Amino acid sequence: MQLERILHSQGFGSRKNCRVIVRHGEVTVNGEVCDFPFTEFDTHNLEFTVRGEAWQYREKSYLMMHKPAHYECSHKPQHHPSIFSLLPPQLLERGVQCIGRLDEDTTGLLLLSDDGQFIHRMSSPKHKVPKVYEVTTKHAVDSQQIETLLQGVQLADEPLPIAALACEQISDQIIHMTLAEGKYHQVKRMVAAVSNRVEALKRIKIGGLDLPDDLAPGEWRWLDESALKLLNQKQSLSTPIEINV
Ligand code: URA
Repeated sequence: MQLERILHSQGFGSRKNCRVIVRHGEVTVNGEVCDFPFTEFDTHNLEFTVRGEAWQYREKSYLMMHKPAHYECSHKPQHHPSIFSLLPPQLLERGVQCIGRLDEDTTGLLLLSDDGQFIHRMSSPKHKVPKVYEVTTKHAVDSQQIETLLQGVQLADEPLPIAALACEQISDQIIHMTLAEGKYHQVKRMVAAVSNRVEALKRIKIGGLDLPDDLAPGEWRWLDESALKLLNQKQSLSTPIEINV
């Protein structure tokens, strides 16, 4: 692929803009300056720098972020900054979207991509990708509440009761709750339905992919092949569960 097209596909602006930065000698490929925009390169594992910043060619972008509190998962946030402001402009130019939204006060694992099929697969209710939330509650959680969450609770505007796939008590006021769906305020509404209240909410796992301990709030990183494979795991629990897809 020609260098100008490569840069354009990676989010460095219009073809004309990419041509200009190449002609200015601002781009190196595999360690050497290339100032001819129509030079052809094999994109497989291609490494390049633009104004000294290192990039790798990626046909599609797959990333995870540790969403901080007080950020909105929207391009047009209303009351807080957007999580998209935490990403480099090249990723926004590529049209990266978040896969499902977390509430403004929810923290934790958020996936982003510009691959429409992947976004659909990960967010479609049909695929039932399990998501684990660490829920801190206002009142101590009792075994009856756990039982009811596992049996299913009736939420307003839902035709049928919704059950947690798993619900593990971690301490008096902390549970790990696994859900197959991603309905609006689902965890908060389910916990309210058992007469308790969510004080803090953090998503700690999607499919088989854990939020890494070394990914600080506000940080993001690319998903590699092994992370993408983990996302496809239906069993995010230590005890295997059956999910009918
Ligand atoms: N459930 C909620 O209530 N809020 C979230 O952000 C995610 C799941």
